[in-house]
Amino acid sequence: MPQPYQARQSGPLRGDVRVPGDKSISHRALLFGALASGETLIHGLLRSADVLAGAAALEAMGGAVSRSEDESAPWRIRGRGTGGLVAPEGPLDLGNSGTAVRLLMGAIAGHDMTATLTGDASLSRRPMGRILAPLAHMGLEVIGQEPEKARLPVTVRGSSDLVPICYELPVPSAQIKSAVLLAGLHAAGETTVIERTPSRDHSERMLAHFGAALEVSELAGAGGEGEGGRAITVCGHAELVGREVRVPGDPSSAAFPVAAALIVPGSEVVVRGVLANPTRFGFYETLLEMGADLKIESKRTIAGEPIADITARSGPLRGVRVPAERAPSMIDEYPILAVLAAFAEGETRMEGLAELRVKECDRLAVTAEGLNAAGVEAGIEGDTLIVRGRGPNRVPGGARIATELDHRIAMAFLTLGLASRAPIVVDDIGMIATSFPNFLELMGGLGAELTPLEGD
Ligand code: S3P
Repeated sequence: MPQPYQARQSGPLRGDVRVPGDKSISHRALLFGALASGETLIHGLLRSADVLAGAAALEAMGGAVSRSEDESAPWRIRGRGTGGLVAPEGPLDLGNSGTAVRLLMGAIAGHDMTATLTGDASLSRRPMGRILAPLAHMGLEVIGQEPEKARLPVTVRGSSDLVPICYELPVPSAQIKSAVLLAGLHAAGETTVIERTPSRDHSERMLAHFGAALEVSELAGAGGEGEGGRAITVCGHAELVGREVRVPGDPSSAAFPVAAALIVPGSEVVVRGVLANPTRFGFYETLLEMGADLKIESKRTIAGEPIADITARSGPLRGVRVPAERAPSMIDEYPILAVLAAFAEGETRMEGLAELRVKECDRLAVTAEGLNAAGVEAGIEGDTLIVRGRGPNRVPGGARIATELDHRIAMAFLTLGLASRAPIVVDDIGMIATSFPNFLELMGGLGAELTPLEGD
């Protein structure tokens, strides 16, 4: 049953909080743990529906996960060693999680086994060809579908005899990069991925942490198209060793309390221990350009990842141009950035957003339509999203948003409703649990007026 929720104009938001662990790092910690020999200990794992779906799939292939109910206690996973997963007895259901299904495809590719992968209605609409095409070149068989056009449910047959490849990413996607590198761990020889625009580099960092032989080289170039970037090479027949992982706070989740603090007058919110990896920090860079009252302090490195404490205070924002090159470092933050742009003075142009069309929903269209419904002028030109800011206290609101099984659309528009003149209703909050299970409690604790819509 959908659970509609309402967000109303709220008094000043105040508090000092931590957001749950980073989703990308949590998925990888479990998966690399399953492929390593020995035990991996994961502190601060995100216990969200997406990550739990990934964990269940790994268990179905022989990974032994010991869960801890106590939020502060680590999870453990006893791995099977590289190439040691076993064929699952039934289909693997990855729910709403693109990251889980795509990274798993890369791992399964290197195993002599057949597996069927399924997901919910949103995941079943998303393209899998971008992953399956390079994996098919390496020797993965896609049964009954053309790899390039495949959609879930997909049945694949892996091989313990994969061929290494050198693959240039057609789109800047960490999921494609990671899937090819994971397959490469099982191939005979060196597998290289070339990316022209840097995408999140957690797989590279964590593979090195787990003992894989991995090399990252910067490619020379004059900056023209098809030049520059990075080449990432892994050696096949790798032996990963179980490790300890500490998962920092998810900057994509922190974006919501930070954004709310910026637009609700009189607010001041601190979010501690947020991942500040430069391949994930484009949103915060953009906020500073918009003139946001933001302090990014106490930068430190924990388990190979930079983290920081972020303090956000309400104040005026100005519209900016967000260049296409920045998109991969903030790809999941555009819905909430577009919401902030509505409260800014002047126009915000967000360029190079083609990838938003293939997220949990068509985020480009749904964000623009949602803003229009809330009385904010927003339009799409090619793959640029343009929002004409109305300035603080002048966003009308008063809309009901169809969230289309997309957690970030739900959270972004609930955030808008905290500062718009009339309330915002989102048709379902169920999907928020895929990435930010305590969103409502955390925001409520800061003073956000979020309530179930009774009798809907
Ligand atoms: C992710 C990569 C991104 C992002 C997703 C998580 C990851 O997708 O949107 O939420 O953990 O690798 P793409 O790599 O397809 O851009």
